[in-house]
Amino acid sequence: MSSNAHVPVLLGPVLEGLKIKPDGCYVDGTFGRGGHSREILKQLGSDGRLIAIDRDPQAIASAPVSLTDDPRFELVRGEIAQLETIIGERELIGKVDGLLFDLGVSSPQLDEADRGFSFMRDGPLDMRMDPDSGTSASEWLATVDERELKQVLRKYGEENNTPRIARAIVAARNEGPISRTAQLARIVEEASPKRGQKIHPATKTFQAIRIAVNGELDQLEAVLAQSVNVMRKGARLCVISFHSLEDRITKRFIRDTSRETEQYRGMPDVPEEFQPKLRTIGKAVRANESEIEVNRRARSAHLRIAERT
Ligand SMILES: C[S@@+](CC[C@H](N)C(=O)[O-])C[C@H]1O[C@@H](n2cnc3c(N)ncnc32)[C@H](O)[C@@H]1O
Repeated sequence: MSSNAHVPVLLGPVLEGLKIKPDGCYVDGTFGRGGHSREILKQLGSDGRLIAIDRDPQAIASAPVSLTDDPRFELVRGEIAQLETIIGERELIGKVDGLLFDLGVSSPQLDEADRGFSFMRDGPLDMRMDPDSGTSASEWLATVDERELKQVLRKYGEENNTPRIARAIVAARNEGPISRTAQLARIVEEASPKRGQKIHPATKTFQAIRIAVNGELDQLEAVLAQSVNVMRKGARLCVISFHSLEDRITKRFIRDTSRETEQYRGMPDVPEEFQPKLRTIGKAVRANESEIEVNRRARSAHLRIAERT
């Protein structure tokens, strides 16, 4: 995947979607290299506040002093699934004016061979956004049950060639550990049909294993549910996803949370706790041609926006 480390995806629509108030309190749940954070801060006045979160220690370490020295800004190492705790510790529950989640991996994570995300660059088969917790892709592949492996490849990779790839991985691990990205890429390539592939045969397998190792969909489901609790009335939620599974989860969550509870549907006086908690703002926003030209990663981006009611 070619990408541009310094261009935040869908920046204009995100800033518009967040409807930034200069004295508001905002959360950038996926700091990365701070592309969005930097632009959000530019729109905040001296009473504004931005809390950024990332689970990747390298993302935290790379934050420039221009941000970390800014008294309006705070960078927290943690998972977005801990949103309510992080916001609660700062006594900001119900006071957040806008949240942004720009999901998935960052360009530096993909580009650095040592992180083990890339089938293009040989490195240790790790794939953890937070290398200090959980199980590396290599360890996961060493023990995962073949049936579970097939399910992961099918569900998270939307891979058609699942049984052959899973069988090849299991056969290879019986010979010795699968510990390098190039090794896994070769196993998948050899198990894949030689013709008719538009993308590298290992693309979907790497995506699927990455999603499993980082529990990405569980993180998303958890953070969406918690978002509603931390937002104040009129606050905005912006979610950028890069594959259909994430987008489907976000779309369904916003749709379901924007509906009246069935028992009160169409009734005049709905008690507050049964009223819809969100309102959908427009349709999914996609990048235009000129953005895609400078940032290929934007090709598959979908931004969904909702407002706390
Ligand atoms: C696509 S990048 C964000 C790029 C960022 N918006 C920018 O403009 O630089 C995603 C970042 O979110 C982090 N991330 C992904 N899932 C996360 C999670 N569940 N909890 C915390 N951080 C997460 C990754 O480590 C990565 O640094």
